[in-house]
Amino acid sequence: MYPLKVVSLGPGNPDYMLPAATKAIAWADVILCGKRHLESIAVGNREVILIGSGQRPLAEIMAWVKSAYKTRRIAMVVSGDCGFYSLLSYARRFVPPEAIEAVPGVSSLQYFFAKLGMPWQDAQLMSLHGRQQDLIARLSLTGTVGVLTDGEHNAAYIAALLKAHGYDDKWIYVGEELSYPEERITKLSVEDALTFQEDGLSVVIVADE
Ligand SMILES: C[S@@+](CC[C@H](N)C(=O)[O-])C[C@H]1O[C@@H](n2cnc3c(N)ncnc32)[C@H](O)[C@@H]1O
Repeated sequence: MYPLKVVSLGPGNPDYMLPAATKAIAWADVILCGKRHLESIAVGNREVILIGSGQRPLAEIMAWVKSAYKTRRIAMVVSGDCGFYSLLSYARRFVPPEAIEAVPGVSSLQYFFAKLGMPWQDAQLMSLHGRQQDLIARLSLTGTVGVLTDGEHNAAYIAALLKAHGYDDKWIYVGEELSYPEERITKLSVEDALTFQEDGLSVVIVADE
């Protein structure tokens, strides 16, 4: 009987993937991943099921995983660290936790803090990627917040929120396409971030300096 392996890819560049993740992917006969992940992993002629491509609803894919994981070697590949806002939470609704083997990895936010040479031990980490969380409440705790963003809840949205709550003196760092060749890192005042437009996958860090 096999476990379901939930494998962390890291931010995307294979240099930031753990050897344990590479081994878990090599072990699988079926790889579940996002389209973008195919740039980072070697799938060879193994079966690939794309997640989030719109071809097949996720609930249907997971129902299949539930019925098949014991007899098929399935690796579900997720970006960043699987313990931080990934499909691991959803997978646990279909497969019992004791049957899941999760391989950790480098989160996009962890990578971004490192790129900025900034410790993250005191930062609040949160997600506005398809969800609402109270950024201002978290900022008031320690002054530094790392945020997963999406097309709508982006740097400009965060800047407007900061301005409305009197945090005009904060700095906003935007990390786009982190670890990929197109990586772009931008430091902005709250005023300048109000009109900033990201080009792709991005995260934001709000800090004092
Ligand atoms: C579903 S969440 C996954 C988070 C992931 N588990 C992690 O630890 O980073 C997707 C969000 O992660 C962020 N993200 C993931 N990879 C990224 C990258 N290479 N560059 C910038 N942001 C990234 C973006 O904010 C994106 O909207």
